[in-house]
Amino acid sequence: MNLKGRNFLTLKDFTPEEILYLIDLAAEVKEKKKKGIPVDHYRGKNVVLLFEKDSTRTRCAFEVAAHDMGMGTTYIGATGSQMGKKESIEDTARVLGRMYDGIEYRGYGQEIVEALAKYSGIPVWNGLTNDYHPTQMLADMLTIREHFGRLKGIRLVYMGDAGYNMGNSLMVACTKLGMHFVACGPDEYYPNEELVALCKEYAAESGGSITLTDDVQAGTKNADVVYTDVWVSMGEPDEKWAKRIHDLTAYKVTGEVMENAGENAIFMHCLPAFHDLKTTIGKEMGERFGITEMEVTDEVFESARSKVFDEAENRMHTIKAVMMATLEESKGSD
Ligand code: CP
Ligand code: NVA
Repeated sequence: MNLKGRNFLTLKDFTPEEILYLIDLAAEVKEKKKKGIPVDHYRGKNVVLLFEKDSTRTRCAFEVAAHDMGMGTTYIGATGSQMGKKESIEDTARVLGRMYDGIEYRGYGQEIVEALAKYSGIPVWNGLTNDYHPTQMLADMLTIREHFGRLKGIRLVYMGDAGYNMGNSLMVACTKLGMHFVACGPDEYYPNEELVALCKEYAAESGGSITLTDDVQAGTKNADVVYTDVWVSMGEPDEKWAKRIHDLTAYKVTGEVMENAGENAIFMHCLPAFHDLKTTIGKEMGERFGITEMEVTDEVFESARSKVFDEAENRMHTIKAVMMATLEESKGSD
């Protein structure tokens, strides 16, 4: 398997075999890290991390992975560079391509990572756009495989706002890998029809399936994985909160939902999560709407079924695998 020089913009661009290769590679480097065996054949290389939106996991995962690999990193946040303000994405990409070996981008439209990839001439990794979050998918699939020992045939139910980056990406990942994807929420929150049609083709090949339902009982019955995400994503206007809370409260992941799923079902969330009032936004919504949590109850979040911190850790190992697979090793390294 040779993915050198490839971009990592969406899992749509990867075959099931390539995705499984990246998950296997991540499992391998995870084990090496646990055993203290270095994977640092990338000394002398440098990567730039562009974050137009905030991040804890993705930024830290890229930085730790890159440093483990012997590489240097430059972090550029929403302010402080010329990108987009005095310099176009195309020009920025050509400048970065002359200095760096790889670019991570987190921000808004998918067309921005595509432009960075087109003009920079070096591998570009999507660290989240409005449309896709592919590095999160590798971490989630590794976590599911670690827990159940397989991916094929797993039933993953996504509760809530399924038409944004997480719902879209999980539908692609599941249908590529022979899993059963269920979007459970009001129909205006389903992934767009074009993407559903494409993923139905993936499912037909892989033996997976897609179900779109507004019925919580039927949708979550016999789920292996119950997955959710915030109801208003980064970059969306604050005015969305009232309607989302109104529309999606019925799709909150509660103890009853987990009970209905079955005793072996696990809970997953890409994080950050509103499971209590210990955040500024959580507190504000708590005061405005008289609620104590949003997409998941604190009980489920803190339960033994919750694998959210395994997922968070796996972000680092999987991002390392993506960089290893797409970058050439340093010349002359042992
Ligand atoms: N899951 C995830 O991408 O988290 P961050 O926003 O903290 O990077
Ligand atoms: N849907 C969320 C995912 C965060 C990792 C967002 O875009 O804010």
